[in-house]
Amino acid sequence: MESPIIYSSSEHVSLLPEIVALHQACITQPPYVIATFLPPFKAGEMEAWWEQRVHEQEQGYRKIILQMAVNEKTGKTEVAGYCMLGMPVSQTGPFRGIVEKLLVSPEHRRKGIARRLMERLEAVAKEEGRTLLTLDTITGSPAELIYPKLGYIQVGIIPNYGISPLDRSLQGGTFFYKNLLASVEK
Ligand SMILES: CC(C)(COP(=O)(O)OP(=O)(O)OC[C@H]1O[C@@H](n2cnc3c(N)ncnc32)[C@H](O)[C@@H]1OP(=O)(O)O)[C@@H](O)C(=O)NCCC(=O)NCCS
Repeated sequence: MESPIIYSSSEHVSLLPEIVALHQACITQPPYVIATFLPPFKAGEMEAWWEQRVHEQEQGYRKIILQMAVNEKTGKTEVAGYCMLGMPVSQTGPFRGIVEKLLVSPEHRRKGIARRLMERLEAVAKEEGRTLLTLDTITGSPAELIYPKLGYIQVGIIPNYGISPLDRSLQGGTFFYKNLLASVEK
């Protein structure tokens, strides 16, 4: 598998439909991730949302990291997963970054792609001086188990944080952080 790549508007705009399709697959297939949108998806809505994220990257406020991989069924190289580093303007916390949308295609899970994406994200974050990373995930989801394996420290749970696409129930959000400058932080 090639190394993860940073999305580039000049090279990767043709991948946007695949990026949207993967986002939709993660929402509509187990474990039904809470990820901004709820089905039924309105035509063009998620495309427009991703175009805004690309615009933010062009403005220097974001990095979109993609993992390409061969689909064993089709033999085609496709977007297998991605994650984003949000880099909001903050004079008081210019060293902070937000991990968003770690999504791996149901067809490419358990092959180490999330780990590869997060390793690349952290390397990019260090280059950008964003050494204190925060993220949230759904309480009780598989992802909640993965972040501690990647060195993230759980800080707590907010009840009733987001609406499940499966049954519209309210689910908790579990919050994590990682200080990339700290070798071990308890
Ligand atoms: C969560 C998700 C990103 C994991 O992606 P992945 O590429 O399958 O994960 P990896 O293969 O890189 O595994 C990373 C580690 O987590 C573990 N892991 C992966 N999936 C797991 C699961 N369902 N249950 C328990 N552990 C799991 C792996 O064993 C691995 O640990 P190890 O390296 O110590 O063996 C993927 O399942 C997914 O996209 N799920 C839906 C969307 C989602 O929940 N995203 C997170 C939003 S916050």
